[in-house]
Amino acid sequence: MTPWGIRNRIKDLVGAGGPARAPKDESLTLHIVLPTGKEHEVKAEMRYTIVMASQTLETPIATGCPDGGCGGCTVEVIDGTGLAAPTAAERKLLDEKWKDKPNFRLACHARIIGSGARVKAMSVWTMDTTRGT
Ligand code: FES
Repeated sequence: MTPWGIRNRIKDLVGAGGPARAPKDESLTLHIVLPTGKEHEVKAEMRYTIVMASQTLETPIATGCPDGGCGGCTVEVIDGTGLAAPTAAERKLLDEKWKDKPNFRLACHARIIGSGARVKAMSVWTMDTTRGT
């Protein structure tokens, strides 16, 4: 398990994944375009966040806070098919930080409810960022 997968596992164990979980459906897909331009298809369960879905990547989407207030996980939505609408909390932060960028979403908030989304990551974890070098 990667260090990033531990966060998902803890959420699963304590039930902090949001509203009541729907039955597992790992057949949902999401396309993530990395800052390098390389595109990956990742699998996701119903109501996974984009950050959770990115955990299988060698360079997952970077996060900067535990409470959804930093904006460090922002992604540009190229195709929003299969993404739930922003919650009020996400909308508030997006309006504060990127009022002129309506296609930006917080990957730690945006939930996957169907296949077909395509997003561009602004920042990803690398071995250098995790080592602090
Ligand atoms: S990780 Fe801080 S807002 Fe998403």
